[in-house]
Amino acid sequence: MKKISAVVAMFAVTAFAGVALAADVIDLPASMGKVSFPHKKHQEMLKDCKKCHEKGPGKIAELNKDWAHKTCKGCHTEMKKGPTSCKDCHKK
Ligand code: HEC
Ligand code: HEC
Ligand code: HEC
Repeated sequence: MKKISAVVAMFAVTAFAGVALAADVIDLPASMGKVSFPHKKHQEMLKDCKKCHEKGPGKIAELNKDWAHKTCKGCHTEMKKGPTSCKDCHKK
């Protein structure tokens, strides 16, 4: 029994570390109104981190208006899924 609970505890720690690395929803500030980006949902749905993290997971140095509109809006337009109008991404 002791052994099993140790394994369970280890899983709990690993799962927690994953959560600590990136929030489920990341607030991207913008003067237009912040964008609440459901990061976890995109991770699970797209699987491929490189769709957004070309240089590996972590902060995205090139994250700005041009990058976001090309990457985020670009994919939504292409897939005909996800918000493409200003106010659907930029909320007060
Ligand atoms: C649809 C785009 C997209 C996908 C796909 C994606 N991410 Fe992210 N991720 C972001 C954005 C945007 C940020 C915020 C970056 C910033 O603040 O510089 C971020 C932040 C992160 C951070 C936190 C960086 C920090 O220090 O705050 C980690 C870690 C991360 N992503 C890992 C991953 C991993 C691992 C995957 C694949 C399983 C993944 N991401 C898939 C867009 C994405
Ligand atoms: C490679 C494709 C791809 C990229 C890149 C991408 N998205 Fe998405 N996004 C999707 C798809 C597909 C959906 C629709 C999910 C659904 O309807 O279940 C979506 C949905 C969303 C939603 C609505 C979520 C909801 O729960 O209704 C928001 C907000 C969003 N994306 C923001 C962003 C932002 C901000 C970025 C860039 C940092 C981004 N997306 C990059 C494919 C992408
Ligand atoms: C798919 C989501 C999405 C859509 C649609 C979208 N944006 Fe953005 N926009 C973003 C993200 C993400 C950023 C980058 C925020 C950051 O730099 O952290 C951004 C940045 C910006 C910025 C610069 C940020 C600032 O502080 O000045 C402006 C201005 C802007 N958007 C205007 C618009 C307008 C106008 C539209 C409609 C024509 C629009 N956006 C549509 C996601 C979106």
